[in-house]
Amino acid sequence: MKAKMVSNTDSKQKKAFTMSVHSEAVLEVLNLNVNYGNFHAVKNVSFTVREGEIFGLLGPNGAGKTSCLSAVEGLLVPESGDIRVAGYDVKTQALLARANMGVQLQATSFQPELNVMEILKLYAGIYGVALTKEKLDTILNNINLREAGSKKFGQLSGGQQQRVSLVIALIHEPKLVLLDEPTTGLDPQARRQLWERMEALRNMGHGIMLTTHSMEEAEAVCDRVAIIDHGQVINTDTPGDLIEKHRNNPEVIRASRKGKITLEDVFIGLTGSQVRV
Ligand SMILES: Nc1ncnc2c1ncn2[C@@H]1O[C@H](COP(=O)(O)OP(=O)(O)O)[C@@H](O)[C@H]1O
Ligand SMILES: [Mg+2]
Repeated sequence: MKAKMVSNTDSKQKKAFTMSVHSEAVLEVLNLNVNYGNFHAVKNVSFTVREGEIFGLLGPNGAGKTSCLSAVEGLLVPESGDIRVAGYDVKTQALLARANMGVQLQATSFQPELNVMEILKLYAGIYGVALTKEKLDTILNNINLREAGSKKFGQLSGGQQQRVSLVIALIHEPKLVLLDEPTTGLDPQARRQLWERMEALRNMGHGIMLTTHSMEEAEAVCDRVAIIDHGQVINTDTPGDLIEKHRNNPEVIRASRKGKITLEDVFIGLTGSQVRV
């Protein structure tokens, strides 16, 4: 069966609807600073992710995206700054903050010898979620893995593994979903499918924060993006408004390809054309 694509107008209307109904902040990051020894990797970064929105942290390699995410997830202790998840301070109310966030783990984090059902049961147990046979079947159906339920995780395709890791991030129905470069390495079909899943989650009221270096992804799926480079947020806006704001600025738009100004032109203009490693 072919997946139904949500038309642009449809998704914009849905977005307007969800944004007006759900406007509560699910993630607030204020003046975040992360150091590795003497190296200042994240510098005074601030942004907010609301319920019912897909927020992209967009930046080249080494910009500081994963460092920001790791601070939110509690995997590293920042130098300074305030982080609140669903209103809970990640430092002083860590358990409540964590209960409200879902983190998509890398495929390499899972035991390749366990089968899909075993992995789902294991993580449901960790999160304290009761997983009945019916609920398990529904989950497997929803991610088109009914037949693959008894397959070992290591035998699944990249797209299938990615669907399992996303469903695990959602198993306790968190308000905030965090995805670090979720579509890297996926083929175009799997990437489209993930975008549709993210839109469905957004329309259910979840707040989603993803990191990406793909302008195409940011333009296609993000309601708002923060462009980050050398640890600093340069600009935060909707992809459309970022383009409009800089469209006529020759300092930013130095060259566009094929005459059409895209988010990539703005991004290159703001972050420079030097290749990062
Ligand atoms: N554990 C670490 N120790 C030292 N430097 C690090 C560490 N993790 C990341 N960095 C450095 O911090 C900067 C930001 O890294 P990162 O947050 O991973 O960027 P991104 O995810 O945007 O590619 C980079 O210069 C990177 O080399
Ligand atoms: Mg990274």
